[in-house]
Amino acid sequence: MAFARLSVIVSLALGAAQLANAALTKRVTCADGNVTANKACCALFPVVAKMQSDLFDGAECGEEAHSALRLSFHDAIGFSIHGGKGGGADGSILLFNATETAFHANGGIDDITAGQFPVFQESGLTPGDFVHLAAAVGTANCPGAPRLQFLFGRPAPKAPAPDLTVPEPTDSVTAILARFADAGFNAQEVVALLSSHTIAAADVVDVTIPGTPFDSTVGTFDTQVFLEVLLKGNSFPGNGSQPGEVLSPLKGEMRLQSDFALSQDSRTACFWQQMVNDQTRMQTQFKAAMAKLQVLGQNTKTMVDCSDVVPVPASFAGPIKFPATFSQKDVQQACPQLRFPAISTVAGPAPTLAPVPGS
Ligand code: HEM
Ligand SMILES: *[C@@H]1O[C@H](CO)[C@@H](O)[C@H](O)[C@H]1NC(C)=O
Ligand SMILES: *[C@@H]1O[C@H](CO)[C@@H](O)[C@H](O)[C@H]1NC(C)=O
Ligand SMILES: *[C@@H]1O[C@H](CO)[C@@H](O)[C@H](O)[C@H]1NC(C)=O
Repeated sequence: MAFARLSVIVSLALGAAQLANAALTKRVTCADGNVTANKACCALFPVVAKMQSDLFDGAECGEEAHSALRLSFHDAIGFSIHGGKGGGADGSILLFNATETAFHANGGIDDITAGQFPVFQESGLTPGDFVHLAAAVGTANCPGAPRLQFLFGRPAPKAPAPDLTVPEPTDSVTAILARFADAGFNAQEVVALLSSHTIAAADVVDVTIPGTPFDSTVGTFDTQVFLEVLLKGNSFPGNGSQPGEVLSPLKGEMRLQSDFALSQDSRTACFWQQMVNDQTRMQTQFKAAMAKLQVLGQNTKTMVDCSDVVPVPASFAGPIKFPATFSQKDVQQACPQLRFPAISTVAGPAPTLAPVPGS
């Protein structure tokens, strides 16, 4: 009796586990042969292919991929948990480009929206889905990046975001953290999001040197930027000191004032330092923070998880290294309570970084 009852319970439990398992592994094969968890996602494979060929020069981690990630941030951060600062990750920056590209913090963004607009128009997606899918795909082209989540189903944006939602490199740490907190992010998430600056370059901070990278490995989604922002600077890469930059350690490198300030401030310095040479930590935290950023202001209950349309990024073997001639003595360490990771140095003379092509 007792045995019989037990076996009924066991088989019920097994049945439930099998059902849950089946739901997790359910797969739909699309007409083009791609496999996804939900048939609504089938429409996205051709869009991803078109993005790769028409936007990203055939799946490169170049200027357009970098730009697509920056665009998703500048779109999404037009949001406040208190309301009144835009619709968040809604693609308003693309649809209402005439308004939003005129904001000072969006300098250079018109290049990106101009490049994305015709591909967007052909895609059949809403502006929000397009901007945030493009960022996930562009980022996936960079070795070392996490495979970002993509939720599908953003309605069309209603209005442009107001000005002054996007942080500027001249802002104080207090102002930056306050703006992010207003959008729902804590200090650790802010540092996590700044992993993006490992595939970044500046066109307008100093207009005389477009495409000036923030680290020596601008085509790789590694933790190099967290190391190089900590290196003592000695020169400016272009036309002297411009607002938003501080002295940089390498010729041809731009060190943003805001990145440097965040690396030194007691509220963020340890989060910053902990990223150095910890690829897994960086990937995990960046992925989680991006998942939040890319659905700001959206009703995720009505969205479909189409993450499996995002290409799987190549991996980065690591470890990172000090650029040639640099070592621990050059580190402006602001979190002395944590041991700095042991990092070796690239051989040879100090490098001069080349600008990112196409900037
Ligand atoms: C404190 C917050 C931030 C500030 C002050 C800041 C500032 C900047 C500045 C000044 C540039 C160079 C623009 C130019 O001269 O062309 C830049 C580039 C970039 N930013 Fe940020 N940023 C911040 C946060 C973020 C976040 C959260 C992301 C993404 C998650 C992001 C992604 C990028 C990317 C990918 C680029 C390079 C674009 C390219 O190379 O074309 N940034 N950022
Ligand atoms: C997936 O979709 C793309 C774009 O439509 C197509 O080029 C490719 O052949 C499809 N099939 C597979 C198995 O990847
Ligand atoms: C801006 O949006 C308009 C449509 O509203 C489009 O025709 C134009 O190409 C876009 N331009 C840029 C720079 O994004
Ligand atoms: C160089 O910088 C100075 C000072 O910021 C500025 O007045 C000047 O216009 C700049 N020159 C160029 C070519 O941008």
